[in-house]
Amino acid sequence: MCGITGYLGYKQAAPILLEGLKKLEYRGYDSAGIATLENHQINIKKGVGAISKIDAKLQFSKLHGTIGIGHTRWATHGKVNQINAHPHLTQSKNLIIVHNGIIENFEELKNKLNSVNLISDTDSEIALYYFENKLNKGLTIKEAIKEFLKEVKGTLAILFLNTQTNEIYAIKRDSPLALGIGTNEIFLGSDIYAFSKFTHKAIFFEDNEFAIISNKGFRFYNQNGLEIIKKITKFNWVKEEKKNKNFEHYMLKEIYEEPKCIERLSISLNSDQKNKIQNLKNLILNSKKILFVAAGTSYHASLYATYLLTRLGFDARAIIASEFSNIGLVDKETLIIAVSQSGETMDVLDAIKPVKNSCYSLVSIVNVPHSSIERLCFLNINILAGQEIAVASTKTYSNELYLFLKLSQELGMKINLEKIFDNVKELIENNSSQIKKVAQLLKNKKDIYIIGKGSGYAVAREISLKLKEVSYIHAEGMMSGELKHGTLALIENKTPVIILISEKHDPILSNLKEVESRNAQAILISPYYGDFKIPEGKETFALYASILGFLLTYEIAKLKNLPIDKPRNLAKVVTVK
Ligand code: AGP
Repeated sequence: MCGITGYLGYKQAAPILLEGLKKLEYRGYDSAGIATLENHQINIKKGVGAISKIDAKLQFSKLHGTIGIGHTRWATHGKVNQINAHPHLTQSKNLIIVHNGIIENFEELKNKLNSVNLISDTDSEIALYYFENKLNKGLTIKEAIKEFLKEVKGTLAILFLNTQTNEIYAIKRDSPLALGIGTNEIFLGSDIYAFSKFTHKAIFFEDNEFAIISNKGFRFYNQNGLEIIKKITKFNWVKEEKKNKNFEHYMLKEIYEEPKCIERLSISLNSDQKNKIQNLKNLILNSKKILFVAAGTSYHASLYATYLLTRLGFDARAIIASEFSNIGLVDKETLIIAVSQSGETMDVLDAIKPVKNSCYSLVSIVNVPHSSIERLCFLNINILAGQEIAVASTKTYSNELYLFLKLSQELGMKINLEKIFDNVKELIENNSSQIKKVAQLLKNKKDIYIIGKGSGYAVAREISLKLKEVSYIHAEGMMSGELKHGTLALIENKTPVIILISEKHDPILSNLKEVESRNAQAILISPYYGDFKIPEGKETFALYASILGFLLTYEIAKLKNLPIDKPRNLAKVVTVK
């Protein structure tokens, strides 16, 4: 994953790069570093850990110079240590690199660079020397990048800083990259957050494009080295609200924002995005089959969408993006709906790129505007949840669910959505003592089972993901009917089983009996049974039950003193395969 930033202008680069890295930290938080140039003097600082911690120790702002590049890492090649942290500098000191992505043929490139002494274990350092080698052969910059793009395999958003010419070379393939335009200053970032504080004008790199940036400005080229004119996008972003003292963690703050976020989306779906939802409705009505493509939490939201659409009589399936090429059968009458908070998940991009032209239509449902997935699709609906900082998706998942409820309503399902914002608000406020009680019961458990039926299945999968991701507890979310086909063997005295019961006479009640007979510790999430307070409504149950699940996983993680917003080994945006 990783996040990269760049700056070339008249101000001190380091504070601007640091600001960008803090915004990009959700992309990786193993280690970070910044390199600046001042009259050809190279300044580099890098360290291990969260950016604010490294900054407190190293003081990035003491790096002088009006040109520079920065990096925040999520390790793919090489351990998490100071040596493997970016930026990397060549021995000649002529070139510095920051890289987001994976160089797949790094072994082959390394063999070609026989006499080079590599310092780190990263694939990025090999790419750095490989590019320098091209320049040493006397190729022009454009020629060198052209050849580099031809020979290097894998995913890359790279910034090369040429310490001799004071130029930055920005190259993109598969990993995202944007250029921000200020007055006499140019910004670079893995996404627009990196520079949205400084400018609202951006150019998005498409695959195999590159730009050369100098104090004369910037020029864009395609993979053949031909200059191209790019469109400048003016963007507006729902500003991230700072975490205040009421919320110790972003995850909790973001759960509490849900009523407001759902309301914002609801207003938009009735006004500026009204045509879009009508277009999506028509696409659904006119297609033979609907395939949702997504990963993680967005996949679980898609499972819920397929439940709703199937009830309405449509042939709808949700496919995990990384398996799409193996199990997703697309023909001309298939409608593909890509669902992704970030709009950058590599598995989703990899799934939809090859089928873009062979399906009926390609639609995106994303939270981050102008993201790569959005730019690839013909119709885009924005879920408008605002920036989500915690690695765990909460408010974005709820907005995805709300969008599917609204869509189903448009398609004829009888759902009452009028009170939904108030209901979500009350749900969050009215259940806190019960959540704390259940969190105490569960905090030391090694395994938890969550069972659901119908829309409850999607919720069971989602709560189990959050228990693993945030609370570090092994959890299995499954269809309640499957319990008796094997998993029941694992249920013994005090095994916790969370049971999602959406209806008074829900058939899942017989599964409850089965686990109770084995002395399991049954925890009921239901408007009718157990101690949680949940509004009635079969269709909206999934939304309410998931929010309770989020709060529960949050409380457990808090009791265990875990790094809630940045769980180990994870990143917010997954731009690797
Ligand atoms: C959610 O809590 C997870 N962090 C993760 O599963 C995430 O939903 C997944 O990586 C997909 O991300 P996307 O929605 O940005 O595509």
